[in-house]
Amino acid sequence: MNKTYYLIFLLFFAASYSSPGIADPVHVYEDFVGCFKNKTNISDKDLTDVVLSHTSVSYTPVLRAYIRNARFNTSSTPKPSVIVLPRVDSQVQAAVVCTKTLNLQLKIRSGGHDYDGLSYVAAVTFIVLDLSNFRNITVDMNEDGGSAWVQTGATLGELFYRIWEKSDVHAFPAGICPTVGVGGHVSGGGYGHMIRKFGLTVDYVVDATIVDAKGRVLDRKAMGEDLFWAIRGGGAGSFGVVLAFKVKLVEVPKTVTVFRVDRSSDQNALDMVHKWQFVAPRTDPGLFIRVLLASPTKNKTQTVNAKVRALYLGKANDVVSMMAKEFPELGLKIEDCKEMTWIQSLLWWMNHKDVEKVKTGCFTRKGTGLG
Ligand SMILES: Cc1cc2nc3c(=O)[nH]c(=O)nc-3n(C[C@H](O)[C@H](O)[C@H](O)COP(=O)(O)OP(=O)(O)OC[C@H]3O[C@@H](n4cnc5c(N)ncnc54)[C@H](O)[C@@H]3O)c2cc1C
Ligand SMILES: *[C@@H]1O[C@H](CO)[C@@H](O)[C@H](O)[C@H]1NC(C)=O
Ligand SMILES: *[C@@H]1O[C@H](CO)[C@@H](O)[C@H](O)[C@H]1NC(C)=O
Ligand SMILES: *[C@@H]1O[C@H](CO)[C@@H](O)[C@H](O)[C@H]1NC(C)=O
Ligand SMILES: *[C@@H]1O[C@H](CO)[C@@H](O)[C@H](O)[C@H]1NC(C)=O
Ligand SMILES: *[C@@H]1O[C@H](CO)[C@@H](O)[C@H](O)[C@H]1NC(C)=O
Repeated sequence: MNKTYYLIFLLFFAASYSSPGIADPVHVYEDFVGCFKNKTNISDKDLTDVVLSHTSVSYTPVLRAYIRNARFNTSSTPKPSVIVLPRVDSQVQAAVVCTKTLNLQLKIRSGGHDYDGLSYVAAVTFIVLDLSNFRNITVDMNEDGGSAWVQTGATLGELFYRIWEKSDVHAFPAGICPTVGVGGHVSGGGYGHMIRKFGLTVDYVVDATIVDAKGRVLDRKAMGEDLFWAIRGGGAGSFGVVLAFKVKLVEVPKTVTVFRVDRSSDQNALDMVHKWQFVAPRTDPGLFIRVLLASPTKNKTQTVNAKVRALYLGKANDVVSMMAKEFPELGLKIEDCKEMTWIQSLLWWMNHKDVEKVKTGCFTRKGTGLG
């Protein structure tokens, strides 16, 4: 190849590939707004609250509000060209259609607890659809056994709270960490401390509304059973934007029991953990026993601490006598147990002795994965 041509060729490649797939955010914003206004007829006043550009004063606070992993909270983390904060269904529809028209990537964010920041980070030009205004919850205790419609921008804690407002003997089987979002949690499967008795969160989803890639709003009947199956565990982001889920509630006793037992290896922790592996999966389904293994810091000797945390859907006396029979290695005493309501037990899980760690994950947004 002629040397000059070769150089031009190289320069051309260097120029066009210097920032692969990244478009100028000002143009992206203008093109997006043009399309969005056309599809929604939104007033200019409302537009400033719903479609945020880099220069908007709310851009950074809105983006940060649901960054739950500090690793993706740096100046070099890729930022969205536009943030859309929809207030009504038609704005979600427009966001989907306009992102597609402009050939950009749409990142859907509910609670922002994605471990890899997938709901607010991308390597190409992208738009964040932030569902934090979609958090209405309607609990209906008249329907057989109780049910709720919950919009996906709500958190699990908000759902638990709204159920408790209506009934202290109903609950929802899901993860314990109250700041996890309904959108990602439910569409990803969901499990928590009642999994043994009730199974996965998605087992309680009976209907949903979704905006599909063509911008249509579909309920279960309209989307069909295949798509409805896919969004219950398949991670809904690949299939559309879930606006809301309809879930069935479960019944829990008015009084539940929680307990904690801490053992070091000097106190037969190993025998206890060994036996736990056989008891925990087979005992009464109303009993969930978690064990955390930790090596005490600042201690050079080889030792292990086992921390047992448990929820029993029943009375303290019953679980103590059950454990005496099935799991004597645990040495559970009535003093280790606390009776309370189900909603209080959620607070207990967030507040146990290792509360610093759990709090980090759930309340100060650092995302340790606990909970
Ligand atoms: C501290 C902590 C504790 C956790 N505890 C548990 C637990 O006890 N049990 C458990 O099962 N899991 C647990 N998880 C995992 C958690 O359920 C998942 O990370 C879940 O995906 C988070 O949902 P989100 O809405 O908060 O996250 P987001 O980051 O908002 O979303 C996660 C993913 O779902 C997509 N998505 C979000 N909303 C929608 C929507 N409306 N429509 C379509 N796609 C959507 C996003 O694009 C992204 O890909 C925990 C995670 C953390 C960080
Ligand atoms: C808005 O819609 C009108 C009529 O459908 C069309 O002529 C116009 O090009 C659209 N403008 C943009 C910016 O999409
Ligand atoms: C927008 O407003 C015009 C004029 O009022 C109307 O004809 C059109 O149908 C509206 N479009 C949408 C998407 O609401
Ligand atoms: C992200 O950074 C800002 C500014 O430094 C800080 O105020 C905020 O608490 C951080 N959020 C997380 C999740 O680390
Ligand atoms: C939530 O409910 C209120 C009151 O019914 C309603 O005005 C609002 O539009 C709803 N929000 C969404 C996002 O559906
Ligand atoms: C370290 O471990 C040893 C052996 O188990 C124990 O006797 C000692 O109390 C521990 N020290 C601390 C600071 O935990």
